[in-house]
Amino acid sequence: MDNSKIIVALDFESLKETEDFLKKVKGQNCRVKVGKELFTNEGPNVIKLIQQYGFEIFLDLKFHDIPNTVSRAIKASCNLGVWMVNVHASGGKQMLLAAREAVDSSSNKPILIAVTILTSYDNSSYQELGFKNNLLDQIAYLTTLSENSGMDGIVCSANDICSIKPLVKEKFQFVTPGIRLANSNDDQKRVTTPEDAITQGSNYLVIGRPITSSEDPAALIEKINQKIN
Ligand code: C5P
Repeated sequence: MDNSKIIVALDFESLKETEDFLKKVKGQNCRVKVGKELFTNEGPNVIKLIQQYGFEIFLDLKFHDIPNTVSRAIKASCNLGVWMVNVHASGGKQMLLAAREAVDSSSNKPILIAVTILTSYDNSSYQELGFKNNLLDQIAYLTTLSENSGMDGIVCSANDICSIKPLVKEKFQFVTPGIRLANSNDDQKRVTTPEDAITQGSNYLVIGRPITSSEDPAALIEKINQKIN
């Protein structure tokens, strides 16, 4: 269960819904992601439940606060025994360094990644915030800042990897949501198939609804693993 590039986004409301899904995929080679909705509803209990099923967890809480607060929140996340955590790169160098130091001084050391600019922004909604930079330039700038501040990687669209990869070292990791198996018509605009995302250099694929709403999620995970391995 710990060598898969698939991270299933558990965008559920409750422990009950989560456990119903975990029963269906028990034993499959994948990791899982817990985000703000599920964690706000159920807290650390949901982490304990998932760990009983043996899955490694990406705790996707995207911290962004003063360095001391982020440091303490990251420390608390490490203590939950999760495999991956994240922060917003726009929290700045001091905040990123504080997150790095919190991971390094914990006994459990999850992979620490940064979110550059949320994929829900486009150039015009980004500039509405008052920033003068073009969105793509800012993504490149925050990627370099993330690497220089000790992040292990970033979350981005697989389509952006080719322009960002030359800016960073080989071991820098790319975690890519927006994965779709076939033509879909939902809220994800910039989508990639699992095979294409891997070819473009993605290290981990975050896949939610295509798996969670499948009739047979276990078979689908197996099929995707075969395609990308
Ligand atoms: O269902 P779907 O495959 O679209 O789920 C993608 C997951 O990745 C969701 O949990 C979403 O919040 C998350 N995500 C994203 N885009 C980002 C960061 C995270 O879609 N830039």
